[in-house]
Amino acid sequence: MELLEANHKNILKAAKFIKEGNLVAFPTETVYGLGADGLNPLAVAKIFEAKKRPAFNPLILHITNLKQFEMISGSGNPSIKKLIDNFWPGPLTLVLPKKDIVPDIVTAGNETVAIRMPDHPTALELIDMVGNPIAAPSANTFGHLSPTTAQHVVNQLGSKVDLVLDGGTCRVGIESTIIAILENRVILLRPGGTATEDIEKIIGPIEKDVIFSSNQPISPGQLPYHYAPKIPIRFMHKIDDENIDPGRAGLLLFTDKKVDYRFKITKVLTHNSDLREAAANLFSYLHEMESTGIDIIYVEPVREVGLGIAIMDRLRKATNKYE
Ligand code: TXA
Ligand code: MG
Repeated sequence: MELLEANHKNILKAAKFIKEGNLVAFPTETVYGLGADGLNPLAVAKIFEAKKRPAFNPLILHITNLKQFEMISGSGNPSIKKLIDNFWPGPLTLVLPKKDIVPDIVTAGNETVAIRMPDHPTALELIDMVGNPIAAPSANTFGHLSPTTAQHVVNQLGSKVDLVLDGGTCRVGIESTIIAILENRVILLRPGGTATEDIEKIIGPIEKDVIFSSNQPISPGQLPYHYAPKIPIRFMHKIDDENIDPGRAGLLLFTDKKVDYRFKITKVLTHNSDLREAAANLFSYLHEMESTGIDIIYVEPVREVGLGIAIMDRLRKATNKYE
């Protein structure tokens, strides 16, 4: 790990690291972020590995101009332009319908993507040099406080991050406010660095304390944080107990050892037992399998080490849903 002052030369170096698929921690006005190329699924998988988070959480894409914004999201809600004009760059994150270019691992399978334009010269220059949006959660390990200095990042992530850009202490010091903008609703998902009163002055009342439940659909994708599979998923040892028609089922394998051509669709998460590759493919393969019109997906469990813990968390939640 290298700790470098955030000057032009080092930001250029950091941008090169990110373009090559590595992780860079960088300052924003809120907290330090742990960044990867937001359009590179394998690089994004490294973020989850470094954070040691036992589950997948969707990530914010950090952008530097409206061209990037249009590349990753689409929505006609007129509040969006007002919010952008008033609060960007700044500590406000917008959750909006995503476009296909956004990898599924960034949104953890959700149909929405979180976007913000940070108000920090280093962050903006870095994103500009990379060219793609940068996916970044707060640069802490799971369960720890968000870092507001480069030293906090070094203490928590150490060798897990390739480069830390030191831009001093973060001005705001708490994370961005997150709001979801649906066709005709605006919902506060996380209070943060932009006061909700200030947002309401611009676009009118926003819904707070919204309790999400499956019988009150709010779309897109019923919003909250976790992708829910549309068809049942079961672990593959159940195949023998159940009277199944493989022609109407899919098989999601960890390795290619158990490929079974009776199934309508078989996907292999990784061809060399690489958990990072498996994580990078997980959500997009589930989506692809669902869209083939099968009734059920059987999955092979993965080893519960490293990213395997988050993968198994996701698969258990999916299988429990249909137990
Ligand atoms: O200030 C910030 O927002 C910092 C800096 C680095 O930008 N980032 C940050 O990221 O706090 P993170 O990953 O620690 O928190 C982002 C939150 C997560 O709780 C995640 O669940 C939520 O945003 N989120 C991201 N995408 C979402 C989506 N599509 N729908 C709902 N929630 C989403
Ligand atoms: Mg965080």
